[in-house]
Amino acid sequence: MKKIAVLTSGGDAPGMNAAIRAVVRKAIYEGLDVVGVEHGYQGILEERFQPMTLGSVGDIIQRGGTMLYSARYPQFKEDDVQQQAIANLKKHGIDGLVVIGGDGSYRGAMSLTEKGFPCVGIPGTIDNDIPGTEYTIGFDTALNTVMYSIDRIRDTATSHENSFIVEVMGRDAGDLALWAGVAAGAEAVIIPEVDFNIDRLIQRLTKSSMRGKKHSIMIVAEGVMSGHELAKQLKEKAQIETRVSVLGHMQRGGSPTARDRVLASRFGGRAVELLIEGKSGVAVGIRNHLLVDYQLSEAYEGKHEADISLYALTEQLSI
Ligand code: F6P
Repeated sequence: MKKIAVLTSGGDAPGMNAAIRAVVRKAIYEGLDVVGVEHGYQGILEERFQPMTLGSVGDIIQRGGTMLYSARYPQFKEDDVQQQAIANLKKHGIDGLVVIGGDGSYRGAMSLTEKGFPCVGIPGTIDNDIPGTEYTIGFDTALNTVMYSIDRIRDTATSHENSFIVEVMGRDAGDLALWAGVAAGAEAVIIPEVDFNIDRLIQRLTKSSMRGKKHSIMIVAEGVMSGHELAKQLKEKAQIETRVSVLGHMQRGGSPTARDRVLASRFGGRAVELLIEGKSGVAVGIRNHLLVDYQLSEAYEGKHEADISLYALTEQLSI
């Protein structure tokens, strides 16, 4: 292995820059040449390769987003597109690729590996929904963003004795909602992993209002329904008035937390080691505080398990 490439793909996540920095610096430390591919897989097809030096990743560890830009590129599923990508990578003397992204991005990396081009994945998504790793880059930062946003919403909810519904991202996973529920002391969380029962929620809200509670915060994961839909159901079924706050893409931005920077740096360093060791078709991850690697296919064929004990905890602590 003499020259590797790195790209970011799918929805961006805070800490991706820290991971790019780690890949580039570790590779150079090991005597490899590195190129950055702009705009994800699409950039391979368009030959958007930029040589990376120690200096090109200076001053980025603290920045949100990704200096290499990101893109979703569904065409990459096609066989001839993948063949062309490999031809382009080889034309530029590249013999290994690090892909930073979510499980959709791993499919492309696995296909390239199966066609003989070595790839390693790094989990980067705010959704924390990749099987095989307990944490993904960006989750901790997004969680803090949600928590601080809810703290602010709580201030005004208390002043005006209003109830709020906060809609958070996460695609089909409830981790952001679940963890934010505990961290921000929400009265209820509604997540895809637990069947939603509107009557049960109404009962809980009624009970807490009867014991004198004047406001409440409910967090709904986008994978269940929108905040506005939940507000509509509460109004129609029980005349419960709520305000709705959709946090949206602010959850994907911002300077990464220390935890995300450290995770990204560890993942980046390990991904380069794996390529040097001749291991490919794998992704790096963290389990029980230890770095692990596992088959890329495990990540997109398996099912992410949310820590449902946090659901019960939120209910128990908000009686
Ligand atoms: O996967 C990250 C994520 O932010 C999800 O939480 C969300 O559902 C999706 O991306 C939004 O994607 P887009 O920015 O393409 O609308």
